[in-house]
Amino acid sequence: MGANGRLRIGMIGVSGRGGLWRHWHQPTGRSEIVAGADINAGKLARFASDHGGNPFVAEDYRAMLDRSDIDAVGVASPDFCHEEHAIAALQAGKHVFCEKPLAVTIEGCDRILEAWRASGKRLMVGFNMRYMNIFRVMKEIIDSGAIGEIKAVWVRHFVGHGSDFYYHDWHATRRNATSLLLQKGSHDIDMIHWITGRYTRRTAAFGSLDFFGGDKPNTLTCPECPEKTVCTEYMTGPRIQCAFREEVDVEDNQVTIMELEGGIKASYLQCHFTPDYHRNYTFIGTEGRVENSEPDMKVWVKTRRSNTYRDLADRTYDIKPASGGHGGADPVICEDFLDMCIDGKMPLATPLAGRMSVATGVCAAQSMRTGGLPVDVPPPPLWSTL
Ligand SMILES: NC(=O)c1ccc[n+]([C@@H]2O[C@H](COP(=O)([O-])OP(=O)(O)OC[C@H]3O[C@@H](n4cnc5c(N)ncnc54)[C@H](O)[C@@H]3O)[C@@H](O)[C@H]2O)c1
Repeated sequence: MGANGRLRIGMIGVSGRGGLWRHWHQPTGRSEIVAGADINAGKLARFASDHGGNPFVAEDYRAMLDRSDIDAVGVASPDFCHEEHAIAALQAGKHVFCEKPLAVTIEGCDRILEAWRASGKRLMVGFNMRYMNIFRVMKEIIDSGAIGEIKAVWVRHFVGHGSDFYYHDWHATRRNATSLLLQKGSHDIDMIHWITGRYTRRTAAFGSLDFFGGDKPNTLTCPECPEKTVCTEYMTGPRIQCAFREEVDVEDNQVTIMELEGGIKASYLQCHFTPDYHRNYTFIGTEGRVENSEPDMKVWVKTRRSNTYRDLADRTYDIKPASGGHGGADPVICEDFLDMCIDGKMPLATPLAGRMSVATGVCAAQSMRTGGLPVDVPPPPLWSTL
């Protein structure tokens, strides 16, 4: 902690998701952003100017980690950098907030967990959906026992604007992201795990590239494209690589089945060319069913007839809107990081959850690419100590 009693945080990746720094920069609060590292000099300059307080900046993140006046690090670089950045920060003696997915391989996640345990520092994952009102309400209802013991889960993720976020830049290739089942899907898989309180034991999947990808040159960008006036995916920025370029190889339409601990059956659909954007979750228990609607900001609870005095009502919850990114979740997850680093609180978004979501996504992708047979999800080597 600094002499002013604040946790001193440095960011790796200062733009895009790195914008989380604004929640941690509280010059009269519990933390402050004192540094940023990014390979893009222009983004570093913009960060320093927006910050306004003369933060330390470096194009090589190691120069930032060498500093003793940094207590904690937020890793918001692309997925394929998380393993290197999180391990280096832990080994440098910093607490770490690592954006999801924890890493792009199961082995990479396990190496992060090992570095975390060896460091004695604190680690959490950017699972901000755990902090969204609509999903917290669903978890509260299920934890209350209102629908009995969970037996089935059905999740549909309609990724409208799929190209804007996933097909115009690095996300679109297996070498960078492995699969959108663990990139985009890491949130949904984690929600299935968190709300049921169970991890996936085995999984199988089918999927393919049904809309994006194609034969356009990898160098083509939207502004220079001769078809830009008629292309449905034309973008003005910041992501402008052609969504129909040759190198695109992550599936845009995929369906996964999962068997969780305790025999819970789950299915998950993720499609990137729907017109609208929302996530529809249904949990079925022995005594009822819970379903949400993000567009309506509602959660419905229907209970089975019990033939006892307990037959009271079906219920509809109106979810309160919250301000802040991702339905109000971003400011709350940033506070949870401070609670963890400063007060030693166990975060809602744990490292083990980060690892199990990636492991499930990796195994589902493996199944999807090898004929759809089920794949067992391996537990982490450190399982008994986590
Ligand atoms: N939890 C969420 O809701 C959420 C939302 C968006 C993104 N994310 C995650 O945040 C991460 C960043 O996503 P993004 O969309 O901001 O990506 P991005 O491509 O915009 O990159 C973020 C920043 O990292 C920098 N960067 C790239 N390589 C780097 C390196 N080797 N060292 C240091 N900096 C580097 C880039 O210059 C950029 O400033 C991803 O892992 C993504 O999955 C999470």
